[in-house]
Amino acid sequence: MFKTHTCGQLRAEHHGQTVTLAGWVHRRRDHGGLIFIDLRDRWGITQVIFNPETDADSHTIASTLRNEFVVQISGVVNQRPEGLRNPNLETGDIELLATNVTVINPAKTPPFYINEDAPVDETLRLRYRYLDLRRQRMQKNIVLRHKVVHHIRNFLTDEGFVEVETPILFKSTPEGARDYLVPSRVHPGEFYALPQSPQQLKQLLMVAGYERYFQIARCFRDEDQRGDRQPEFTQLDMELSFVDRDDVMNIIERLFTEIIETETEKKLLFKPFKRLKYHEALEKYGRDNPDLRFGLELKSLNDIVANSDFKVFSGTIANGGLVKGLNAEGCGGYSRKQIDELTAFVKTFGAKGLAWLAVSDNPEKPHRSSFAKFMSPAEIDALIERLEGKPGDLLLVVADSAAIANEALGRLRVEIGERLGLRDDDVMALCWVTDFPLFERNEEENRWDPSHHLFTSPMDEDIPLLDTDPGKARGKQYDLVCNGYEIAGGSVRIHRRDIQEKIFGLIGLNVEQAKVQFGHMLEAFEYGTPPHGGIAAGIDRVVMLLAGEPNIREVIAFPKSQSATDLMAGAPTPVAEAQLRELHIKLDLDAK
Ligand code: AMO
Ligand code: AMP
Repeated sequence: MFKTHTCGQLRAEHHGQTVTLAGWVHRRRDHGGLIFIDLRDRWGITQVIFNPETDADSHTIASTLRNEFVVQISGVVNQRPEGLRNPNLETGDIELLATNVTVINPAKTPPFYINEDAPVDETLRLRYRYLDLRRQRMQKNIVLRHKVVHHIRNFLTDEGFVEVETPILFKSTPEGARDYLVPSRVHPGEFYALPQSPQQLKQLLMVAGYERYFQIARCFRDEDQRGDRQPEFTQLDMELSFVDRDDVMNIIERLFTEIIETETEKKLLFKPFKRLKYHEALEKYGRDNPDLRFGLELKSLNDIVANSDFKVFSGTIANGGLVKGLNAEGCGGYSRKQIDELTAFVKTFGAKGLAWLAVSDNPEKPHRSSFAKFMSPAEIDALIERLEGKPGDLLLVVADSAAIANEALGRLRVEIGERLGLRDDDVMALCWVTDFPLFERNEEENRWDPSHHLFTSPMDEDIPLLDTDPGKARGKQYDLVCNGYEIAGGSVRIHRRDIQEKIFGLIGLNVEQAKVQFGHMLEAFEYGTPPHGGIAAGIDRVVMLLAGEPNIREVIAFPKSQSATDLMAGAPTPVAEAQLRELHIKLDLDAK
C-alpha cells in the first residue's frame, strides 16, 4: 500500500504517529522557509508542512512540486496549536510534518483550476472530464449518486426484490423515441436495437414468475437533448406481479422518502406525496409535471370574457379556445420592457401575445393594462377577482388553443416563480400525477398513439370506451413529479389478450404487424400471465435534484454534450472501410 491513512482521516488523536499519505498536490504555498502543501485524495485534504530544518532534502523536493503532481509523503502527525486549527477542513485539527516525499508522477498544468469552484466553460470541462471529475463539486455528486443507488439496492433487496440484468443488444422496445441500431455481422442486413427501456423484458420476467424485479438499467434513446435528457441514461426499473397502482406507488413513495430523509438535508414538502389527476394538473399548472414548490395557479377566464368586446379573447373562445390567466404577485411595477420580455418568452411556446393588467394601488388611478380599455368595468372586476389580484399585482393572460395556452402559461408560471425566488432548492415537492388519457390523437396518421406505452392498461371502468370514445379512456398510469421534473413513470399493464389486441388495433397495428413486432410478448402472455405493473425512475434526474444541480450532466461521470457527442474521446467517429465491409454497410452520405 502506498498510504497508511487517507487524506481525510487524521485527527487530533493521531498526534505523534508516523504516517504515510499519497495523493495529488491540491495547493502549494511557499512561505520562504516553510512550504505548505495541501495534499488531496478522494477522502479529503491534509495540510503538510516541509521545514528545511527538519529535513532539507524533502524541503528541496517540495519546492519543485506543482499543482496536481502525484506524491507520497511520510511524516509525523502534529496537533495544531489552538488558534491555528482550520474548522473548514475535516482534518483541520492536525498537520503533517513531512520527513520524506516521493514524486510518483509530475503533472502538466491543468487547463482549469481544480482547487477552485470557479465557473469553467462546459466544453472544456467535458473535453478534460477526468480533471473536472477531480473537482470537489463533481466528487460530491458522483459519491451522492453512488449512495442513492446503494440505498435503492439495499431497500429493494429488503423488500424481497431481485435484481436481474437484461440485454443491451435486443429488439426495438419503443418508448416514443428513435432507436439506436447496432448492425449484426453474422446476420448481414439485420440490426439489434438498444433498449429504450427494459419494458418488454421486465414484463416477460413477470410471466417467468419473478414477481418483484428491479434493475439499475441503462436506456438508450435517440432524441433531442435537453438539460434533463441524455441519449443514454439510467433508470431504476421495477416490475411487480399481483399488484395494483397503489402497491407500486406505495413502495416508490417509501423508497424516495427514505432516500431524501437519510441522504440529504432537503425538506419534503408533501408527506404523503401530493396527488393530482392529469386534468387537474393541466388546469391549475398548465403542465403534467408541475413545480409545486409555489402556488401561482392558473385560472380559466372563459366564462368572464366570452362576450367581451376584446376580440382577442372573445374570438378565441368562439373558436373553441381557452383564455387563461396567472397572477404574478407583486409584479405590478414591471416596466414595459420587462413585460415585453415576458411576452417574448410566451411567444417561444407558440402564444400569439400576452395580455396584461397591473392592478392599480391607487383607487384614483386606472389600472395600467394592454386590454382593459376594450372591456367593461364589470368584466375587469370579475377578472381581477378570479385571479385574486391585489393592488400591486400583475395579471397575465393568454388566449389560444387549450394546448398552447396551457403550455405558454405553464412555462410562464415557472419563469415567474423563478423571478420571485419561489423555487427553493432545499425543498422537494413530490407529487403523483394519475388518470392520464390512454391515448393521444395522431391526426396525421389517423390513429391513436399510446400516451405512455402500448402495454398500459385502461382503467377498468373505461374499457367500454375503447369501442365508443377511445380519446376519453384513462390509463392506469402514474407519473412521479418533483420540482417540475418527471422523475418516474409507470403503469399497471394489460394482461388480457383481447384488450391488448384492441389496443394494437386502435394504434393502427394489424394482427400481422403486431406479431412481427411483439409476437414474443403475445406468445408469452398465453402461458399464464399474472396481473402486473411497474415503474421506472430516472436516476440521473433524481440525483440532479438531490444534488441541487441544474442539469443531469453534472451527475453523470461521462455525459454526452448537447449534440450527443463525447468531447473527451471524440465519439461518434467514422470507422474503417474494412469494418463497414464486414457489416455489409455502404455509406451514402449525400442521401437525406
Ligand atoms: P419513461 O419513458 O417515462 O418510462 O421513463 C422513465 C423515467 O426515465 C427518465 N428519462 C430520462 N432521463 C434522462 N434522459 C432521458 N432521455 C430520459 N428519458 C426518460 C425520466 C422518466 O420519468 N418503461 C417505462 C416505465 C414503466 O412503464 O415501467 C419507461 O421507460 O425520469
Ligand atoms: P393588439 O390589439 O394586437 O395590440 O393586442 C392587445 C394586447 O393583447 C397586447 O398586449 C397583445 O400582446 C395581447 N395579445 C394579442 N394576442 C393575444 C393572445 N392570443 N393572447 C393573449 N394576449 C394577446
